[in-house]
Amino acid sequence: GLVNSRDLFAKAVSGGYAIPAYNFNNLEQLQAIIMACAETSSPVILQVSKGARNYANQTLLRHLAAGAVEYAAELGCAVPIVLHLDHGDSFELCKDCIETGFSSVMIDGSHLSYDENVKLTRKVVEFAHQHDVTVEGELGVLAGIEDDVHAAEHTYTEPDQVEDFVGKTGVDSLAIAIGTSHGAFKFKPGEDHKIRLDILAEIEKRIPGFPIVLHGASSVPQDLVQMINAHGGKLKDAVGIGEDQLREAARSAVCKINIDSDGRLAMTAAVRKVLDEKPEEFDPRKYLGPAREALKELYKHKIINVLGSNGKA
Ligand code: G3H
Ligand code: 13P
Ligand code: ZN
Repeated sequence: GLVNSRDLFAKAVSGGYAIPAYNFNNLEQLQAIIMACAETSSPVILQVSKGARNYANQTLLRHLAAGAVEYAAELGCAVPIVLHLDHGDSFELCKDCIETGFSSVMIDGSHLSYDENVKLTRKVVEFAHQHDVTVEGELGVLAGIEDDVHAAEHTYTEPDQVEDFVGKTGVDSLAIAIGTSHGAFKFKPGEDHKIRLDILAEIEKRIPGFPIVLHGASSVPQDLVQMINAHGGKLKDAVGIGEDQLREAARSAVCKINIDSDGRLAMTAAVRKVLDEKPEEFDPRKYLGPAREALKELYKHKIINVLGSNGKA
């Protein structure tokens, strides 16, 4: 069955690697994730966001994830699979996911006051742990993007707060803000493309060995952006986090790295190419198949070259 994140994180922290946390909304994305993990023998966290639940239905996604356990075994490598709620925004939603079979949840109270964040997160932890479900909390605010408006200011995680937060809430892992952000437009043109690994090091000193999570960790591969634009797309100034910086983070206390946007780019590039070059195609399998293949390669690349979770299943 599905597993929670506890043992996976303990091994990842001591082993100096990170577990991939890939979002999925449909069958092809899930197949690509499981094929990539089975072929590289990597554990995996399947993430379901609010957008995914609205798009595909939470019940269907949950059954797909449960089926993925069997599917991985059929592929010849029964990798550990976590089903995780991404960016849970209320106790009720977390409770519902916990009661219906998710093995891990995030309660994102990062936009609340410190005390409110502690209170809400503590409440979710108390409920989740009764069901052996692990909980991710968040401190600090990632810069967000609204449509095509570029990232607003970050509020970096305050290292002085992490020990108190982790102690008071009992969370199993902590998402931090060190300059990553969601989406495909992470830095403004001309801006220094650096994340604050110095803040990460400071946080690690305060809570040694505690599992740290990075959201907004897509790298926005420029070959994919160019491929999209070469086949009719219009992505201007799309940039992400350098893979070298993420590799360095994965070697330290970061044990979960969230990647969604890069997968979106890989899928879109492949679909655009097929439809552009073969306008006579109209069988969805003829463009979703290549998209799935491109996704699988991207996920394998991340596992082997960025996260280091290959062979850790
Ligand atoms: O945290 C953001 C993830 O990329 C999920 O985004 O809510 O559009 O599915 P979404
Ligand atoms: P990206 O948009 O950088 O892929 O981040 C995804 C994420 O953090 C999901 O929670
Ligand atoms: Zn996120």
